[in-house]
Amino acid sequence: MTPGSICVLGGSGFVGTHLCAALARAGWQITVPTRDPARARHLGPLPSLKLVAADIHDQRQLAALCTGQRAVINLIGILNERGHNGRGFEKVHVELVRRLIEACRRARVDRLLHVSALNADAGLGPSHYLRSKGRGERVIRDESGPDLQWTIFQPSVIFGPGDDFTNRFARLLRAIPLALPLARPGARLAPVWVGDVVAAVQHGLADESTAGECYELCGPDRMTLQEIVCRVRDRLRLARAVIGMPDLAARLQATICDFVPGKPFSTDNYRSLTVDSVCKVNGLARLGIRPQPLNAVLPKYLI
Ligand SMILES: NC(=O)c1ccc[n+]([C@@H]2O[C@H](COP(=O)([O-])OP(=O)(O)OC[C@H]3O[C@@H](n4cnc5c(N)ncnc54)[C@H](OP(=O)(O)O)[C@@H]3O)[C@@H](O)[C@H]2O)c1
Repeated sequence: MTPGSICVLGGSGFVGTHLCAALARAGWQITVPTRDPARARHLGPLPSLKLVAADIHDQRQLAALCTGQRAVINLIGILNERGHNGRGFEKVHVELVRRLIEACRRARVDRLLHVSALNADAGLGPSHYLRSKGRGERVIRDESGPDLQWTIFQPSVIFGPGDDFTNRFARLLRAIPLALPLARPGARLAPVWVGDVVAAVQHGLADESTAGECYELCGPDRMTLQEIVCRVRDRLRLARAVIGMPDLAARLQATICDFVPGKPFSTDNYRSLTVDSVCKVNGLARLGIRPQPLNAVLPKYLI
């Protein structure tokens, strides 16, 4: 597909910011809806990007945003909900996707790229996050119909400038004096560089043969959470111990954090970490992208 108009839902977030910069460089005219234009003002310097204050949960506003677009990219996702019963995840990861498909139908948009998550599974996912991400994917597969070509991406944890992963541990390591207690230290992850995720989505846009496909996205290293946090610590040259918490203590910490405003950690996050986030078949290789390791990129932004 040659560049034209595109709507990026979630374009103001971590992945969206990197993706929009790349799309702008490639010549796309980008529309990014946001709940709060002030929070998204960092996108201002991109001349071909229009920031629109909108409620994307409103069917009519969503259809208006989709009108005239060559393609729509959906990056909307939450790691935690306000409540505890899964309703918040359902609204964002499932109901919004259903509305988006309807909006694409009304606006005659025929291309949808959707970023889900590795281990998304409507039935077997251990957390509300992963089950709702799985249900969102199912809605795309079952309800898109023949006129809407979709591609799904399932990244493991994503790192890079502005992430809420390595940067969060960097903040914690700096703030805590001697030792950082870590929940689920043995959880295995394959951290993937945001630049590789962006390249995968751009490849999906350019290559129609990716329609109807689902791509797992992983970095080249399979590491435990503890190894990753130690990498961050070593990069920052901090003298801190990183101590794995026993499961019972981690569950207790998650239960307490469930009631801390902003939920820095949660029972749902804990449950997501009970399954390894590593690819069976790395979609980056299928797309001809050689993934960057954590070690190669960390020094460029963690200083
Ligand atoms: N980051 C990772 O490690 C990772 C790993 C696997 C999968 N993913 C998935 O990749 C996608 C992008 O992730 P990200 O890290 O870039 O996310 P992010 O930084 O949290 O950004 C998500 C965007 O979604 C919008 N949003 C959030 N809650 C919303 C709500 N209730 N209603 C409407 N809009 C809402 C926000 O836009 P406004 O505030 O401007 O309205 C925000 O810019 C998500 O679907 C995420 O689940 C991320």
